[in-house]
Amino acid sequence: MPGLRAPSDYSEEPPRHPSLKINAKEPFNAEPPRSALILSYITPVDMFYKRNHGPIPIIDDIESYRVSINGLVENPIQLSMDDIRKLPKYNVTATLQCAGNRRTAMSKTRTVKGVGWDVAALGNATWGGAKLSDVLELVGICELTSVSSLGGKHVEFTSVDRCKEENGGPYKASIPLGRATNPDADVLLAYEMNGEVINRDHGYPLRVVVPGIIGARSVKWLDSISIIAEECQGFFMQRDYKMFPPSVNWENINWATRRPQMDFPVQCAICSLEDMSVVKQGKISICGYAVSGGGRGIERVDVSVDGGKTWMEAYKYQKSGVPYVPEDTSSDKWAWVLFKVEADILPNAEIIAKAVDTAANVQPENVDVIWNLRGILNTSWHRVHVRDASQVAHSNL
Ligand code: MTE
Repeated sequence: MPGLRAPSDYSEEPPRHPSLKINAKEPFNAEPPRSALILSYITPVDMFYKRNHGPIPIIDDIESYRVSINGLVENPIQLSMDDIRKLPKYNVTATLQCAGNRRTAMSKTRTVKGVGWDVAALGNATWGGAKLSDVLELVGICELTSVSSLGGKHVEFTSVDRCKEENGGPYKASIPLGRATNPDADVLLAYEMNGEVINRDHGYPLRVVVPGIIGARSVKWLDSISIIAEECQGFFMQRDYKMFPPSVNWENINWATRRPQMDFPVQCAICSLEDMSVVKQGKISICGYAVSGGGRGIERVDVSVDGGKTWMEAYKYQKSGVPYVPEDTSSDKWAWVLFKVEADILPNAEIIAKAVDTAANVQPENVDVIWNLRGILNTSWHRVHVRDASQVAHSNL
């Protein structure tokens, strides 16, 4: 594609914030310290996790950039950034979460394959751009169509980055046509992140944002959008980002038995404490995030400071100072909530957080029961152990 090119090596990577924790250098995969996530409802761009499968594409000439809309459509078109900007612009605040968030904790049960992530492979941003449903209308596909007149049932997004999993080919993924043509699903072709032009790491000049589903479907550096009859056959749809039961291992795996993961399940994590932090006995604030997929809000966050014997309900908010009410029109339905609770800590406490979404979905108590060989969707109760400052001081004498 003229204008957008994929470097073959990592010599042209963009600058990044020094406090990101780098989980893999090439391709660049990094997350902020967990404590950074709860400093603001909107995650600053430089503190937003970065998940890549190849070198970051680069634009030599934005004027010549075009995204093609093709496949099973009567009249394929190519759109420039000017064409996209002329469409109605929407700002959607949505949490993007990698399916591998909290993978490191899952690999403590049994080894899993994949980049190790702590609890910060997610972020909450305001994405600005055109709705995919408006773009598809330009090629004659109307709102709320789930099968197009030419038999299209899926919308495939293809990038330009070179991924080893695709044998040097580009990253791609698809979503069902019915979601793409539903204006209420808020699927965006985003050119802004937090009010600024989206940067290279996050998909400049144009990326897809599919709110409420795993980040893997929100394709960055968009090259083409194709209407296709069957779901995308790319690696990241067919041989990755699928949820298997604990009985499946690398010897007996049959990828075809599972569907590509879409919605993410209810999730939460404590961000104000690292595991094994040293705290003084007494009152402390326990803060973190909770989020669910599919536009389901958060009904409740329960926190325990005695390993699950007793529970307290946490205060939840999106905009600071305003209590969060799920399904209230002023709440952001695709976004996380932050939670906070004050509690008295006893020596060597195990602190736990678990969330319930508006469909009453709960998180599994233990990670073992959802262990899967790729280490995705670790949504087990989040536990941190704290050590008592006075005891640590004694043991250091
Ligand atoms: N798009 C392209 N072209 N290449 C990628 O490697 N990674 C996907 C998705 N889109 C990816 C991509 C994955 S797995 C995730 S979780 C999100 O982008 C991460 O988006 P971010 O780096 O903007 O946080």
